[in-house]
Amino acid sequence: MGKCSKCACRVIAGAEHLPPPNWKEKKQLGERLEQGYRLACQLWIEHDIELAQDDLPAPAAATAGTVAAATDSVGA
Ligand code: FES
Repeated sequence: MGKCSKCACRVIAGAEHLPPPNWKEKKQLGERLEQGYRLACQLWIEHDIELAQDDLPAPAAATAGTVAAATDSVGA
């Protein structure tokens, strides 16, 4: 995990609850970190956050998705 960037998401809300990007995110995302992107596989979610994944591969790219994660939905 942390090698393919397929889980790259833009944080819409709740970024203040996330830890600083780790070395894998820095390596994979580069300048996109400054645009609010994170690697979802590298995040340990303890608070509600809202993510948008707008670089989905075809055919899912036709509809950009928004995902909201809640702590109670992951059993934390
Ligand atoms: S970087 Fe590959 S699943 Fe997150």
